[in-house]
Amino acid sequence: MDWGMANRMAQLIQADGHCLFMPIDHGYFLGPTHKLEKPAATLEPLLPYADAVFVTRGVLRSALDPARSKPIILRVSGGTSTVGADLANEGITTSMEEAIRLNAAAVGISVFVGSDYERQSLLNLGELVNEGERYGIPVMAVTAVGKELEKRDARYLALASRIAAELGARVVKTYWCEGFEKVVEGCPVPVVIAGGPQADSELEVLRFVHDGMQRGAIGVNLGRNIWQNEHPVAMMRAIRAIIHEEATAKEAHELYREVKGAPAQVAAKAR
Ligand code: 5RP
Repeated sequence: MDWGMANRMAQLIQADGHCLFMPIDHGYFLGPTHKLEKPAATLEPLLPYADAVFVTRGVLRSALDPARSKPIILRVSGGTSTVGADLANEGITTSMEEAIRLNAAAVGISVFVGSDYERQSLLNLGELVNEGERYGIPVMAVTAVGKELEKRDARYLALASRIAAELGARVVKTYWCEGFEKVVEGCPVPVVIAGGPQADSELEVLRFVHDGMQRGAIGVNLGRNIWQNEHPVAMMRAIRAIIHEEATAKEAHELYREVKGAPAQVAAKAR
């Protein structure tokens, strides 16, 4: 691996081999979704605990201070919306030149395996990898399921993740599922877990993150289950404890309860 690529990968994946990415890219197809109406305000208290931020160029320029940012994974696919005909009909929205101008540590693109736009989204990934490799910029592939959330089983996710890696993604982002080790074992590049819509309880999220890590994920790219939580900082810190401090789901839940109950100054000291 050439120096630039290795350096960017090291910005994303920390010395312990793990990572906590904070995605706030959802507006590119969901608009001003709940708790992301003002991305800067949502991100501000979470930023100290994130290893990288997954974001579009629009929100990057409007919500992130270039003087005190974290490594950026630039969302470069889009062109569809939740009220349009088909979420899978994405194209590449942002050039590699723009990614370089914005000093991105990586670029991210969705692939929609099994959809009517499977071929198009996979060829988009191949094109992006061709350019990313030329400039030393890793590509994170997002195995998207559009509105078909029931697709999130090990067989489908292993298929989609493997294809993304075969086409050259350096990191694959996919959903947690029962038997998650099948997804990881079939994928020759690091796998990170996305969360999807808000789960019923904090403990449910902490359990699937912990289980995914035990089964070989290197970290998370988890958004709504953190920033839509009533206590986002507490949730972020609980997830971070699993990713970087080997906490169990129960220990992380105790931390969540402790931080959410603590006055602001005490919570800051407990870091
Ligand atoms: C949205 C994305 C998100 O980055 C990804 O789904 C993670 O966020 P969440 O945990 O909220 O699902 O790719 O297009």
